[in-house]
Amino acid sequence: MRSSLLSALSWLTQFSAAQFHVDLINRISVVKTTYGTVFTNNITDTKISVFKGIPYGRPPIGDLRWRSPLPPNPWLHPINTTTSATACWGFIGANTTATTSEDCLFLNVWTPAQSDTNRLPVMVWVHGGGFNFDSGLNPLFDGVQLCRKGVIVVAINYRLGNFGFLAHPALDAEDSVGNSGNFGIQDIMLALHWVRRNIDAFGGDSHNVMLFGESAGAHALGPLMASPLNTNLFDKVMCSSGSFWDSEHGSMENFDQSRQRGIDWATSVAGPHTSIAELRALPAYVVQNTSMWSGLDPSVTSFSANVDNYVIPQVPAAVFATGKQAKIPFLSGFNAREDTAFQQRGFDHSSAAAFNERVFTWLNMSGNPEAMIRAGLDKYFPATSDSQANESSNLLIGDVVIREQTWEAADLHEKTTGQPTWLYIFNFTSEFSPMPGHGQDMPFDFGNLKPFGFTSANVQPGPDDKKMAEYMTTYFTNFAKTSNPNKPDNLGGSLPIWPAYKSSGGHSTVAEESCGPKKKCIFELASPPSTQTFDYGRFQFIQEFRSNGAFPADWHNFTVT
Ligand SMILES: *[C@@H]1O[C@H](CO)[C@@H](O)[C@H](O)[C@H]1NC(C)=O
Ligand SMILES: *[C@@H]1O[C@H](CO)[C@@H](O)[C@H](O)[C@H]1NC(C)=O
Ligand SMILES: *[C@@H]1O[C@H](CO)[C@@H](O)[C@H](O)[C@H]1NC(C)=O
Ligand SMILES: *[C@@H]1O[C@H](CO)[C@@H](O)[C@H](O)[C@H]1NC(C)=O
Ligand SMILES: *[C@@H]1O[C@H](CO)[C@@H](O)[C@H](O)[C@H]1NC(C)=O
Ligand SMILES: *[C@@H]1O[C@H](CO)[C@@H](O)[C@H](O)[C@H]1NC(C)=O
Ligand SMILES: *[C@@H]1O[C@H](CO)[C@@H](O)[C@H](O)[C@H]1NC(C)=O
Ligand SMILES: *[C@@H]1O[C@H](CO)[C@@H](O)[C@H](O)[C@H]1NC(C)=O
Repeated sequence: MRSSLLSALSWLTQFSAAQFHVDLINRISVVKTTYGTVFTNNITDTKISVFKGIPYGRPPIGDLRWRSPLPPNPWLHPINTTTSATACWGFIGANTTATTSEDCLFLNVWTPAQSDTNRLPVMVWVHGGGFNFDSGLNPLFDGVQLCRKGVIVVAINYRLGNFGFLAHPALDAEDSVGNSGNFGIQDIMLALHWVRRNIDAFGGDSHNVMLFGESAGAHALGPLMASPLNTNLFDKVMCSSGSFWDSEHGSMENFDQSRQRGIDWATSVAGPHTSIAELRALPAYVVQNTSMWSGLDPSVTSFSANVDNYVIPQVPAAVFATGKQAKIPFLSGFNAREDTAFQQRGFDHSSAAAFNERVFTWLNMSGNPEAMIRAGLDKYFPATSDSQANESSNLLIGDVVIREQTWEAADLHEKTTGQPTWLYIFNFTSEFSPMPGHGQDMPFDFGNLKPFGFTSANVQPGPDDKKMAEYMTTYFTNFAKTSNPNKPDNLGGSLPIWPAYKSSGGHSTVAEESCGPKKKCIFELASPPSTQTFDYGRFQFIQEFRSNGAFPADWHNFTVT
């Protein structure tokens, strides 16, 4: 009698020409991609085929370290994608989710399709982690719950930290287009090319691709929408808690700053006259563990997205301000307490006086009138006592690192392109998820109500949590399907209508759904300036320090403490 392995192999040979074939009896799915065949033995109880670790790029190792990604070399023997491949090296959490490696250009596909003629909408997930950690393999991003609503989910890895974002004049010199610095962003683009070319074979609709991401994953999407290299790679975007990689240190690093950082790193690790060949010969762990990432100050010390005059020719907000970004439907949103992850980065608030001095000095670097600055600070970030300074410090850092720019992206996008745009505020709390902090939306985004962040391992999700997850996954899969979060599924009429965002304002459009006696089930669907619950005035105040989208260049030199 043949072993199940042999039977699977002969079955594969027999069906190797199949585009997509699901064999529920042998529990195997086979797909022929442009580079070769992949198969999986993981078909879930709900008939979702799970492919993990499909190569979308050539291993960026050896001489390919710090080069633009290349397509994979074709393979002859079907690849078994039943279990995870590797995650990219990251400075933090390297061992928490998966085996890490420099060889990490893989993606995962969850498909509920039963044949390649299904043409299902596609949601492509770009994970966050400050461009320095996490991966598409994190179980939090398991696609099965979204798949239940009739979409395909793709979660990608991309190079992180120094591997993904080293800019260096010697790298520019050897590159065919004279560029370095945003390999991680180029990886995402290559993965999107793969999706356009291959997702039909998984039962997807390659012409209906929604790109979504959270935190740095969202901060990668503004640059992607603004990049001249984005040749229609996706059809709609959802940015959760991020958009432009702006911070208290202004807009993202410029060309010279990112190169200086690269030179400084090379010098520190191998001396002042190190060649790129010598740097490429360094073991990956040395590159990784010498590229310090300070959670307190990413825009200064981390390797991350930067203006490189090619992939990212100018700060993304400046592109949005002139309407040159991708003209596609857009949805974005932020959490009420984004500051939770960034409080340590806050402006000096050792006393009210210290806070007032630091923040005034910072804003005054803009050249805006002093009276305007003082009035805005008094109104939106008051500090008449030390404890109030602490609160204002928290509010301000959360606004600057996440909230204001997430709103700004929606506001500019609607204003300059007129494309359908939606904005949400995640302000949901429950016993299970007591704080709407940074990242806390993700269990709800994916419908995976497992312990994460502020959720407690000892508390089970309740009806409110399940309802919120049901709302959010329905809105988001609706957006994937029709570019409108309100349709086709309205949960039998119970899904609150989510009005489109209009930068010009208009009628009152906040829908607050109360579920449970404490009216705590809050997912606000916001369209200012008609509502008081929205932080519109505060955001407008911060917005006034932008000049054609960009924050003052001097902020790069500013120390908050
Ligand atoms: C199969 O995929 C499901 C959904 O992603 C996952 O929960 C499960 O752990 C996978 N099984 C195996 C054996 O990897
Ligand atoms: C593919 O990998 C899975 C998980 O390791 C294994 O159970 C299965 O036998 C493999 N299939 C083949 C045909 O090698
Ligand atoms: C991660 O795991 C590898 C292999 O087990 C080990 O060599 C390395 O020290 C670990 N790194 C961290 C940061 O724990
Ligand atoms: C990096 O790893 C090497 C080898 O394990 C070790 O000697 C070195 O101290 C590490 N450096 C840092 C900054 O962790
Ligand atoms: C979130 O809800 C709390 C409690 O109802 C409220 O005080 C706060 O203003 C809300 N925050 C936002 C940003 O809507
Ligand atoms: C604010 O900045 C201006 C220059 O733009 C400078 O003249 C002025 O002295 C500054 N104000 C304070 C209080 O430092
Ligand atoms: C500042 O605010 C944070 C968040 O609310 C709180 O945890 C912390 O205790 C406060 N610190 C002071 C000194 O009041
Ligand atoms: C930042 O400081 C450096 C030197 O400390 C100076 O050369 C540079 O011009 C400053 N940049 C800005 C934008 O102020």
